[in-house]
Amino acid sequence: MAKPIHCIADARRYARRRMPKIMFDCVDGAAGAEYANGLNQEKIQQLRLLPRVLVNVAQRDLSTRFLDRDWGLPFGIAPMGMCNLTWPDADRMLADAAKKFDIPMALSTMSSTSLEQVAQWIPENGWFQLYVGQSESQAMQLVQRVEDAGYTTLILTVDVPQVAPRVRDLKNGFEAPLRIGVRQIVDFALHPGWSVKTLLAGAPSLANFSPGEFYRDGGRGLVDWEFLDRLRRRWKGRLIVKGVLSVEDALRIQNTGIDSIYVSNHGGRQLDAAPAAIDMLPLLREALGPDYPMLFDSGIRGGEGVVKALALGASFVMLGRSLLYGLGADGEHGLQRVIDLVRNEISVTMAQIGCTGIQQINHSVIVQK
Ligand SMILES: Cc1cc2nc3c(=O)[nH]c(=O)nc-3n(C[C@H](O)[C@H](O)[C@H](O)COP(=O)(O)O)c2cc1C
Repeated sequence: MAKPIHCIADARRYARRRMPKIMFDCVDGAAGAEYANGLNQEKIQQLRLLPRVLVNVAQRDLSTRFLDRDWGLPFGIAPMGMCNLTWPDADRMLADAAKKFDIPMALSTMSSTSLEQVAQWIPENGWFQLYVGQSESQAMQLVQRVEDAGYTTLILTVDVPQVAPRVRDLKNGFEAPLRIGVRQIVDFALHPGWSVKTLLAGAPSLANFSPGEFYRDGGRGLVDWEFLDRLRRRWKGRLIVKGVLSVEDALRIQNTGIDSIYVSNHGGRQLDAAPAAIDMLPLLREALGPDYPMLFDSGIRGGEGVVKALALGASFVMLGRSLLYGLGADGEHGLQRVIDLVRNEISVTMAQIGCTGIQQINHSVIVQK
C-alpha cells in the first residue's frame, strides 16, 4: 500500500524506518556537528512571506524559464551520488520523474547509473555534474564522454576540495565500496524490505568508472581558476559552477564567462561552519545583477522554501535530500509524491501571496524585519 506522505518530514520518517541506518545516515547526514545542515533549514523557516488579498489568483502558472528553456516547474533534481542506495533503480525513477514533470535532472559523476544510459532516457532533461578527482586528464575524458552522450549542460562542483568527514558515516563504518561486517549484516537484517530489494538487485557501484578508478574520499583539490578557464574553453555547452557562497568568487566566476552560478553549501555536507546558503543568496543576487542566471539549493524542505529562494534572487531551485527521502520511503511512488506535494505547496503559496506566475515572485513578498 502506498505510504501516506503529506510533507517532507513524513517522507523522511518513512525512509528512516525502511532503510538500514548506515544508508539512511549517509543520505541524511552532514559534516561535523551538522550545524550548517540545521541552519540551512532554520534560516529558510524563519523567513516570513506577506499574505496579499483580493488578487485574482484563480489561474497560476508554475512554468519557469531558465537557461533559455521553459521548464514545467521552478525546481529540479540536484546532483546526488549513489541514489540507488535508497531504492534499486532510483536513477531511472528520477529520470522518469524529470521527464514527467519536465524538470532538469543533474546526474552526478558518482551516480550508480552510467551517464550514457541516463542521456538515452532523458535527452532533453539531463544535466551532468562533474567532479574532478585525482586526475585532470581523467576528468577531461569524462567531459568527452558527456559531450558524446549529448549533454548540453555541465555543472562543475567546486565546494569539495576534500570530502569533509561525516561523523555518522565514520561511526557506522560507511565506506565506498561497502565493506560488510557483522554490524552491517545486523543492520540489513533489521531492515529486510530494503535489504531483499537492494541486495537482490546487486549492490550499487560507481557506474561511470571501472572499479578503483575514482576514490570517493580521495582529494579533489586540483580544481583552480586556471582549470576553470581550461574547462570553459573546452566545454562549448552551458557551464554552471556549483557550491559558491562568496561574492568575490561569484564575480570572478561570472567574469570567466560561466553561464550560471549555483549557490549552495552542499546541504551542510562540507564546511560545518559555512553560512546558511539562503543568507548569501540576496548578497550574490545584488552583486551579480538582476538577470544573471542563478541556481540555489541547501535546506529546501517544501514549496514555501522554493518560493522564498526565488524571492531572494534564485532563478531556479534544486532539491536534494527531499527527493531521496521520497525514494527511500516508497520508491517511485514516494518520489513522485514528494515532487507533486512540493509543486502543490508552491502553487498554494503563490495564491496566498498574490502571484499568478513565477516571474512575479520577488523580494517584495518577503516580510522585512
Ligand atoms: C546523498 C547525497 C549525495 C550527494 N552527492 C553529490 C554529488 O555527487 N555531487 C554534488 O555536486 N553534490 C552532491 N550532493 C549535494 C546536493 O547536490 C545538494 O547540494 C544538497 O543535497 C542540497 O541540500 P539539501 O539536501 O538540504 O536540499 C549530495 C547530497 C546528498 C544528500
